[in-house]
Amino acid sequence: MNVKANGTPVRVALMGFGTVGQSVARILCSGEMPGVQLTHIFNRDVERKRVDWVPASVTWTDNADDIVSADVSIVIEVVGGIRPAYDWVKGALQSGKSVVTANKQLMAHHGAELLDIARAKGLEVRFEASVAGGIPVLRALQEGLAGDRLVEVRGILNGTCAYILSRMESESISFADALAAAQKAGYAEADPSEDLDGADAAAKLAIIAAVGLRRPVRVGDIATKSIRPIESVDFMYARELGCTIRQVARASAEDNGEVFAAVRPALVPLSSAFGRVTGSQNLVTVRGVFGGETSFSGSGAGGSPTAVAVVSDVLSIANAGSRPPAAAEPTVYHKVKGDFVAPHYVRFTVNDKPGILASITAAYAKFGINIEGVLQLPKFKRDRLPFVTTLEECPESVLERALAEVAKSDYHVVAPLALPIFG
Ligand SMILES: NC(=O)c1ccc[n+]([C@@H]2O[C@H](COP(=O)([O-])OP(=O)(O)OC[C@H]3O[C@@H](n4cnc5c(N)ncnc54)[C@H](OP(=O)(O)O)[C@@H]3O)[C@@H](O)[C@H]2O)c1
Repeated sequence: MNVKANGTPVRVALMGFGTVGQSVARILCSGEMPGVQLTHIFNRDVERKRVDWVPASVTWTDNADDIVSADVSIVIEVVGGIRPAYDWVKGALQSGKSVVTANKQLMAHHGAELLDIARAKGLEVRFEASVAGGIPVLRALQEGLAGDRLVEVRGILNGTCAYILSRMESESISFADALAAAQKAGYAEADPSEDLDGADAAAKLAIIAAVGLRRPVRVGDIATKSIRPIESVDFMYARELGCTIRQVARASAEDNGEVFAAVRPALVPLSSAFGRVTGSQNLVTVRGVFGGETSFSGSGAGGSPTAVAVVSDVLSIANAGSRPPAAAEPTVYHKVKGDFVAPHYVRFTVNDKPGILASITAAYAKFGINIEGVLQLPKFKRDRLPFVTTLEECPESVLERALAEVAKSDYHVVAPLALPIFG
């Protein structure tokens, strides 16, 4: 049952009483949401989680079965991770409860199956907070832009990377120092791999591709590259080109039914909306065949903005009429390609000696890659000399083959770094 029956509030259970869960509970207990009533809170070792601002009528439990079997209409899952959240969410749906989740990994990996179960039972699974935190981008794509056919999405979807890269840019600090600052400020976890290496943004991109482009893809098929090899010298060279560096997630619906999808650090113009994203902000730009470009930006994380997205989903389920069960629609996963065709920036760090540029240009020529320019800033030591080639548009896969050839030479101090340049 999803609707408010006889004006009585819709009963809601909360799984997870951490950063987002506590902010959700604060809103639900604020008296501002009379249509919904928080009845249960679940967390492991729940006794240490009790707070005095939650009404005494709320049941606290560390047994997930208490939630699955509870007399509630909506279960909110803000625990995170794929397992055991998947089992709990599936169990809640199977026992007739709609679900709201902020869990991008759960939805990217199992969203199609969970949505099918919900559809078959006339229930809802809402997951607005799983992408871009407090920015209501999924609803905007699903409803606000329903009249367009979206063909491309580009986004800065990971606040940790945006924070680290914008600190490297503004303070000329190393990657290691920027990461340490992000961890100290609470923007990066103790193990930040999922953020830095692109898995977090890939999960969000998979969700946007399914919702916005209407082309579900397997998250494991999305090619990712880490921001770890970026050095502060890359920002100096990027600036010479009128650019800065951000982690960009990009997907487009190809005419042949395939989906291009990839997550990369990339050069973006300083003057562009992408270049101006700093701190933990998120940005999503979509392009439709009829309406052209539309952008959404705002706070991509944080307990309160994310909780607002969660509670909005709860309200939209609570306020909607219940819908009849419908046959599950088998999900067709689209083939993914991740080969960027773009102009490129390639930074070499070499122990200088004659003939280096000639050997690099020979490798480029062998693979049909045209050089647009060569940049070398002064005052670097000759035994660790960074310089940059900018290349005309070429497929990333071809560039990788050329660089594999260049990498055989003995003059490299650091492996070459190739980044696409987005106009
Ligand atoms: N934080 C954000 O800004 C943000 C933004 C968008 C989406 N999200 C998503 O929201 C979800 C929650 O994030 P969060 O930042 O609130 O995480 P969090 O602060 O770590 O909270 C998770 C809560 O779940 C509990 N928990 C974890 N594993 C459990 C288990 N196996 N059994 C029972 N309880 C368990 C934790 O208990 P302990 O206290 O014992 O660890 C903690 O209270 C995640 O899916 C995340 O990706 C977060």
